[in-house]
Amino acid sequence: MNVPNHIAIILDGNGRWAKKRGMPRSYGHVKGCENLETICEAAKELGVKYLTVYAFSTENWKRSKEEVDGLMRLFRNYLKKCLKISRKNDMQVRVIGDYTAFDQDIQDSIVKLETFSKDFQTLHFQIALNYGSRDEMLRAVNRMLADQKEGRLQGEITEEIFSGYLDTAGIPDPDLMIRTSGELRLSNYLLWQMAYTEFYFTDVPWPDFNKAELIRAIEKYNDRDRRYGGVKEESTCSKQD
Ligand code: FPP
Repeated sequence: MNVPNHIAIILDGNGRWAKKRGMPRSYGHVKGCENLETICEAAKELGVKYLTVYAFSTENWKRSKEEVDGLMRLFRNYLKKCLKISRKNDMQVRVIGDYTAFDQDIQDSIVKLETFSKDFQTLHFQIALNYGSRDEMLRAVNRMLADQKEGRLQGEITEEIFSGYLDTAGIPDPDLMIRTSGELRLSNYLLWQMAYTEFYFTDVPWPDFNKAELIRAIEKYNDRDRRYGGVKEESTCSKQD
């Protein structure tokens, strides 16, 4: 099995999973959070090098105060618990997104976790928090403008330079993007980085997405013919992209 180097996941369906069981949406988020540990471990066992999950978007602030508060509580607990998880899995953790919008104690926990795990190398785990691709690109452009003004950046902007200003600087682009729970959209996730990523959509809600489901997604990825806009000599298929 050809295992993707980088898998990006949109964690969707916690709320519906909980409602179906007559439970509050927050219970779904708790289960979804527990599942992160399962999937990190599974990814590591399968040999995935980079795993990026979309946990809170720039648009998620629109949810009820009760739900947002519940998610913040979960992030608080998880970021602390993750110190142990990162050591156990030799997992480097990095948060992408504008986390300056969070309470100071959450920001401090992020810095602590990133610093603690910076030398772990087996799995690179990125958590997107207050992340939106358009926001990320605008922040990058504004930092480029500031650097140009200060003389730190000169000449034409290349793809490499632009990529280096994104939150994902230094992280290879995703090979496979998985979205759970049936919605067929990208929801402002890694738009620049996913120019050539293969997409896999499943109806399985995030709390039920286990190692077997991850293997199923990777098997489907193995059926794809990645041509990056070119044409493969040996390919009998006549499609051009
Ligand atoms: C999207 O849809 C999911 C979220 C906004 C939150 C995802 C959060 C977690 C998996 C848990 C916490 C994560 C970390 C990093 C600690 P939805 O799940 O609200 O579901 P719906 O589409 O069924 O309403």
